[in-house]
Amino acid sequence: MCGIVGYVGNRDCSEVLVSALRKLEYRGYDSAGIAVFESGKINIKKAQGRLDDLEDKMKYEGKPCGNVGIGHTRWATHGVPSEINSHPHRGGDKVTIVHNGIIENYKELKEMLIKNGRTFVSETDTEVVAQLLDFNYDGDPVGALRKTLSQVEGSFALGVLFADREGEIYAVRRESPLIVGVAEGESFIASDVPAIIQYTKKYYLLEHDEIAHLTSDGVSFCDLNGKHISKELKVADWSQDAAEKGGYDHYMIKEIHEQPTSVKTTVTPRISDGMPSLDECGITVDYLKKVKQIHIVACGTAMHAGMVGKYIIEKLAKVPVIVDIASEFRYREPLIHKDDLVIIISQSGETADSLAAMRLAKSMGAKTLAIVNAKGSSIAREADMLIYTHAGPEIAVASTKAYMVQISVMYLLCFELAFAKGYITDGECCRLTDALCEIPALIDDTIDTTNDLCHEIAEKLIDADSLLYIGRGLDYALSMEGSLKLKEISYIHSEAYAAGELKHGTISLITEGMPVIAVATQTSLYDKTVSNIKEVKARGAMVILVCDEKAEVGADVADHIIRVPKTLEMLMPMTAIVPLQLLAYYTSVLRGNDVDKPRNLAKSVTVE
Ligand code: AGP
Repeated sequence: MCGIVGYVGNRDCSEVLVSALRKLEYRGYDSAGIAVFESGKINIKKAQGRLDDLEDKMKYEGKPCGNVGIGHTRWATHGVPSEINSHPHRGGDKVTIVHNGIIENYKELKEMLIKNGRTFVSETDTEVVAQLLDFNYDGDPVGALRKTLSQVEGSFALGVLFADREGEIYAVRRESPLIVGVAEGESFIASDVPAIIQYTKKYYLLEHDEIAHLTSDGVSFCDLNGKHISKELKVADWSQDAAEKGGYDHYMIKEIHEQPTSVKTTVTPRISDGMPSLDECGITVDYLKKVKQIHIVACGTAMHAGMVGKYIIEKLAKVPVIVDIASEFRYREPLIHKDDLVIIISQSGETADSLAAMRLAKSMGAKTLAIVNAKGSSIAREADMLIYTHAGPEIAVASTKAYMVQISVMYLLCFELAFAKGYITDGECCRLTDALCEIPALIDDTIDTTNDLCHEIAEKLIDADSLLYIGRGLDYALSMEGSLKLKEISYIHSEAYAAGELKHGTISLITEGMPVIAVATQTSLYDKTVSNIKEVKARGAMVILVCDEKAEVGADVADHIIRVPKTLEMLMPMTAIVPLQLLAYYTSVLRGNDVDKPRNLAKSVTVE
């Protein structure tokens, strides 16, 4: 998704903007640009491609010299990735903007503006906002923003320069995230905290339809009527280190290694006297006793964490769980009852479909629980109950540690729910919680013992046209995540299949040498899965088996075996996911892909 930054102060603005944009690269982008006040004029530089391309261009053409400006990384929605479509966009002589989001009624507005003599150079919805703002501007920035915001529909965060107001930036948001950073003699805007953390940890969260006015003397906020707003200053608890690579080749592998710590930090504060305790998050045993049905709604990896939640909650707490893809849930008229609990899982807390799904659930009277990693994000703020996962910033587009902490929370919730419903005693609940607390050490072991093997096996995957992931029960839920991880960063087609379903059609895809990754960590289902593995093996598949360290594997079952530490059957996903992440990582590295920023993808999907 697009990234926005802005700077007012005494530093070299071009440098600040580019370095801040680098910290937003994880959001995904296909072009970049900056606009800086230079001797009373706004100098814009843009380039299709990476920030390196923009920097190369500025080396050649000269970079804008000044202390005030805005910058942008674009993830194309309206119009192809190109220099002309990239931001910042001018709206005429008076206005230059950067934008994250989507303007839904841009066609109507464009027609109106064309009728009023305006001409457009790009295919973007953003240029329409720029032109409209310019059209509405008569020297009063707040008045022009108010009028423009009353005309546009959709989601947006905007950074705005008015040509006659050198030394000032205006910013406004509706739905799309935006923060305002402050330090002595300088201020910033950004789509996310990592962009500014090298300069300041102090920031304000801009709310829906609030306008920020930034100068080097400080920032002020007002609503659309120009009424002053006082806001709470926040202090980021992320170190700059946490937002950087720390010696690893890629963020993804760094984040895989951070999983033990992330789980510890997420789980430990939620345990009291050996029992899961989510009271502080607004979830009490008394409330859980009343829950009749659970919906888990999320996208991508977060939805796969929800699948793990479904299997464990239904098994241990006997509460029916429906897992939905957020973009389906919001339009399929789901049957939600007042006693239902709707759980939204999201790393970023800004995923447009998940946010809309949560709002829908609330409007239908259900209680919503958000499991979110990004502090202060929209989903976190709007949910009735909230459990923060403490994974720290996840920068790689491919989610690893966020998934791991999401499933940790699923376990905590499942244990507490099973106890509340009377299906396990407090003693059993404590034993399960103890086993969960031992998981960080087991994840560490798994990384150590499987890393090199996964690297070797990845060499055998790099030329595959397609592969299958199979498993039963929790292993099937895990297969879905393993398959998504591989395809998003290696660009090799793969599918996850319930092992028992193969013979109903998919087995016809198996050809000599086709890699099949079989996950068989569930002891109770092991023999059944092995039968399915033999079926694909008999048809020529190259089988890579992920099983526990004690599993007895017949000589004819697999070509490669990846063994992971054994723990309780229901907790096996927490170790077994690690080799699936590593296989995807090394396959992507060996294919020479941009591991952390895979093509066409964005970290935070803030548009529908
Ligand atoms: C996972 O590797 C992907 N980047 C993607 O599926 C992601 O999990 C999904 O877009 C949901 O994001 P969220 O957790 O920020 O809501």
